[in-house]
Amino acid sequence: MKQIRLDKFLTMAGDVSRSQARQYIKKGRVNVDGSPEKKPDRKVDPETNKVELDGEICLYEEFVYLMLYKPAGVISATRDSAERTVLDLVDCKGRDLFPVGRLDKDTEGLVLLTDDGRLAHRLLSPAHHVDKRYYAILDEAVGQEEVKAFAWGLDIGDEKMTMPALLEPVGWISEAEPLTAEGKTISGLPGQEQGFAVYITIQEGRYHQVKRMARAAGRKVLYLKRLSMGPLILDRALEPGTCRTLTREEIEEIRAL
Ligand code: URA
Repeated sequence: MKQIRLDKFLTMAGDVSRSQARQYIKKGRVNVDGSPEKKPDRKVDPETNKVELDGEICLYEEFVYLMLYKPAGVISATRDSAERTVLDLVDCKGRDLFPVGRLDKDTEGLVLLTDDGRLAHRLLSPAHHVDKRYYAILDEAVGQEEVKAFAWGLDIGDEKMTMPALLEPVGWISEAEPLTAEGKTISGLPGQEQGFAVYITIQEGRYHQVKRMARAAGRKVLYLKRLSMGPLILDRALEPGTCRTLTREEIEEIRAL
């Protein structure tokens, strides 16, 4: 593996910023192969050198992968002067994380955050047709006619029709009798007393795609939540605004796509 600077190694091995890493090194808190190392630019090989901070071995991770439950009201950008972004919800110093794909500000659910640009590119590439599954509440019921239209592909005003999508009607829900979506209760439907719940699986990631497909079928999306992206399924233990690192198995599954 290629050699990297000691201060960079520390930021990639743990939750420390580059400047904190330099301070720790200068204060003699970092050992390389058992000896204190005070030069932040000392080159280390992550595979062969043993690096310790305060006697604890630092395990180097080349990339970070976080599963975030994005709440509504937060934008899928890396930074913004006015709005809260998905990166404001995670504490990951020294890494240039970004969201893999975007959810609208009012959409909630699964967002993958990473600094692995190649993997993100593969997941987003239209050639790869990675399924994205959503739970949606519509203003009107849908039936077999709409299921067929989604399966055929819809004209949403782009040059090309959408690819076939799977529409699975669930049924009517109301605020008085809130349905649980994937184990969580849906809170109030803004401005509506009731709505019609569906699952929608799309293969692309066009701008506002689910809402535009619903509109093409004469319906309005009142609530939208992304449940999965390829093999990654939103962890039911996560609450809106919280995240966790992907497991080894999850990382292998998305790499295998
Ligand atoms: N489709 C939409 O319309 N909005 C989203 O946030 C995601 C998919």
